[in-house]
Amino acid sequence: MENFSFYAPTYFAFGKDAENQCGQLVKRFGGSNVLIHFGGGSVIKSGLLDRVKKSLAAENIAYTELGGVKPNPRSGLVYEGIKLCREKKIDFILAVGGGSTIDSSKAIAAGAVYDGDFWDYYEGKPVEKALPIGTVLTIAAAGSEGSPDSVITKEDGMIKRGASGEAYRPKFSVLNPALTQTLPAYQTACGITDIIAHLYERYLTNTKNVEVTDRMIEALILAMVNEAPKVMANPNDYDARANIMWGGMMAHNNSCGVGRSQDWTSHNVEHELSALYDCAHGAGLAVAMPAVFTYTLQHDVMRFAKIAVRVWGCQMDFDNPERTAKAGIEALRNFLVSIGMPKNFAELGAKEADIEKLAHTCCYGNGNTSGKISGFTTLEQKDVEAIYRLML
Ligand code: NZQ
Ligand code: ZN
Repeated sequence: MENFSFYAPTYFAFGKDAENQCGQLVKRFGGSNVLIHFGGGSVIKSGLLDRVKKSLAAENIAYTELGGVKPNPRSGLVYEGIKLCREKKIDFILAVGGGSTIDSSKAIAAGAVYDGDFWDYYEGKPVEKALPIGTVLTIAAAGSEGSPDSVITKEDGMIKRGASGEAYRPKFSVLNPALTQTLPAYQTACGITDIIAHLYERYLTNTKNVEVTDRMIEALILAMVNEAPKVMANPNDYDARANIMWGGMMAHNNSCGVGRSQDWTSHNVEHELSALYDCAHGAGLAVAMPAVFTYTLQHDVMRFAKIAVRVWGCQMDFDNPERTAKAGIEALRNFLVSIGMPKNFAELGAKEADIEKLAHTCCYGNGNTSGKISGFTTLEQKDVEAIYRLML
């Protein structure tokens, strides 16, 4: 295991009606003048926004509202939010929604206290300062409620990039599983796929002897595979929703990723797809993961065989471990299809003619002059093109 430090000080308020604690929580973490940021309207329709505002009003906390975050959040609204924060002297940002709303809030939080262009952070500048953020999560997926990361799409060129820094980690996150019961089935499945991807990206490591985190990852994937059919069959299954929600947080606050190298190839490959075609991140991952894993299998056949046996219940073929490894990838693909995820380029709305462009942006975008992406393996543009071809 490698040396590491781990400090993830987000306060979680978990359970039914937890959103009614918002006012007290904002106060506890020093907010008195809040920007409430939200998406395309689901939180208005469900009545959640009203409950959050009531909770703030009960503590005499002033607030300004900014809605309209789109999935794959855009830089345009971030600039608007930054301007609003300065005009209104906002001292706390409350994200009410999914990963897109939380990521947009994080970008606004950093941009509001920075003289330069917030996009600098998405070109590699470390995020060292930001307004404090709280979240009320409405979809178990991105894990942004407990992560120091944010992913934004710049309209100019439709470039999707991530930024990271401790200043981005939410001070508190409200996790009420009942809030996810209004999700369309497709979004629920996209979220579960993203959670599983966050676990696989950590499982694919070159670090030896990391049995504790290996076992944590395996357990979390197994739990997702067990709970997913329950929520697909019954969207109001509170306990299944609760397990998925906490699993989504655990999958990405890095408690399962410490002390080991990580992959992130599937995410790199996927981000180009959701940037160009505006597909859901989870849907893009459902198509990307089996292709990436098939292409990189030879790098460490036994690692893929191990997850095939321990998670997917495949029989270990000691004479031909590659067969076991491939059976595990097939089992993952079948599971994703069973919950309604797409399996190829066409179902995503992606085009074969764009493959060269997608692979080029993936390897050279954002000032990357090496032309390579590194994680579990190191890949060049020709490799990434081959991966996109496997998705056809
Ligand atoms: O906008 P509204 O009307 O709220 O509708 C949303 C949106 O259309 C809807 N929704 C959310 N909660 C709902 C609901 N509809 C009904 N009832 C509810 N309770 O679901 C749609 C998707 O929302 P979004 O916030 O986009 O989903 P998600 O949480 O999957 O976030 C995706 C974004 O997160 C990024 C992705 O790249 C993508 O841009 N990621 C962020 C990460 C991070 N910050 O750590 C890591 C991830 O790997 C990921 O890259
Ligand atoms: Zn993800």
